[in-house]
Amino acid sequence: MAGAGGLRAPAGRTTSHPRGSDRANSMNEPLNPDSLGIDTLGVRAGTLRSEFMEHSEAMYLTSSFCFKSAAEAAERFANSEEGFTYSRFTNPTVSMFQSRLAALEGAQACMATASGMSAILSVVLSSMQAGDHLVSSRSIFGSTMTLFSNIFAKFGVETTFVDATDLNAWRAAVKPTTKLFFVETPSNPLTEVADIAAVADIAHNAGALLVVDNCFCSPALQQPIKFGADIVVHSATKHIDGQGRVLGGAVLGTHDFIMGKVFPLVRTAGPTLSAFNAWVLLKGMETLSLRMERHSASALALAEFLESHPAVARVYHPALKSHPQYEVAKRQQSGGGAIVSFELKGDTPAQQRANAWRVIDRTKVCSITGNLGDTRTTITHPYTTTHGRVSPEAKAAAGIGEGLIRLAVGLESVEDLKADLLRGLQG
Ligand SMILES: Cc1ncc(COP(=O)(O)O)c(C=O)c1O
Repeated sequence: MAGAGGLRAPAGRTTSHPRGSDRANSMNEPLNPDSLGIDTLGVRAGTLRSEFMEHSEAMYLTSSFCFKSAAEAAERFANSEEGFTYSRFTNPTVSMFQSRLAALEGAQACMATASGMSAILSVVLSSMQAGDHLVSSRSIFGSTMTLFSNIFAKFGVETTFVDATDLNAWRAAVKPTTKLFFVETPSNPLTEVADIAAVADIAHNAGALLVVDNCFCSPALQQPIKFGADIVVHSATKHIDGQGRVLGGAVLGTHDFIMGKVFPLVRTAGPTLSAFNAWVLLKGMETLSLRMERHSASALALAEFLESHPAVARVYHPALKSHPQYEVAKRQQSGGGAIVSFELKGDTPAQQRANAWRVIDRTKVCSITGNLGDTRTTITHPYTTTHGRVSPEAKAAAGIGEGLIRLAVGLESVEDLKADLLRGLQG
């Protein structure tokens, strides 16, 4: 597990580097994560070197680790001796990923998972049981909604969905059995911004923990733990990779929560991040804050352009002054992020869909794909894709209509993206 800041060998077992040289470890020792900026942490936090003194992190593609003796194997399996055992739950490359992400989020510890969905699954499975209750914002990623309302419901975990921005709704949803609050902020796809500090207060007064899905901002723009969140989950598939290559996820929180609850679950159930993917994600983190700055600036420029177009009914981006939670976003985010959603005008839902599909189909630069957080701009029709399995009623409650398009703005020239959208906007 990652130690705070991730720069020194932690108390937890999974970041230890049994064959790392003294020099490698001593190189890391003087760095104090509290005094380092996010750009430095993204590049250097968590690096541990083997005796070969490789500069770039090594990729440990091995399913298991050898022991010097039967006694050592017994100690490792009993967790009474530090070291690596089996890559379902301990691998040096994955440990480096965990340490670096923990440093970026300002978390005590991190457990990597195979995807964002398995991170969310691991939080709920490790901290709830039949009869428990979850309060979640209702404007969330479609699979998260399906996981809560269809799959967990089968096992007796009940979910109440609320408007993320309505503090009274969060308060009113609390039951004696409430164990977790879950919020995605900004939300997918409408970029609703929840006030993390205020929601954390309500959760804590109810004796519950607040989980924040920090996928849209990444730690480069928002660190929810600073505002009172207890647990952060990531789809590392998105901005942390940033180049659309691999799937990954992570759960971050206190050392006690991660080691005491999430680690035993991942060790046993195996929703594990591979060493290969961890290595790719380590490289992604090195450019994260640079990319997020550019994604945010380009997205805002496109949002302003779309806001002034007569075919567009409404634009959603947290850094637009017209965004209903603009002030909250300014307080807790250092940038608006890459996502711009916009609604096309149209007299009927069928007309709105036709207009949205025309804009999507006429693009040549944007990729028509469901992913986000890539160097390449992606364009999506949430109603029929990412939220296709969500019931029409739930989509209506979440404000996802037929005319809605989600753009995840990449790193291309903004003028090229404007021209790409204009082809379909002009009818
Ligand atoms: C906000 C959010 N959370 C979680 C996920 C799930 O992540 P993954 O696809 O890595 O399982 C996604 C995927 O798009 C997402 O947008």
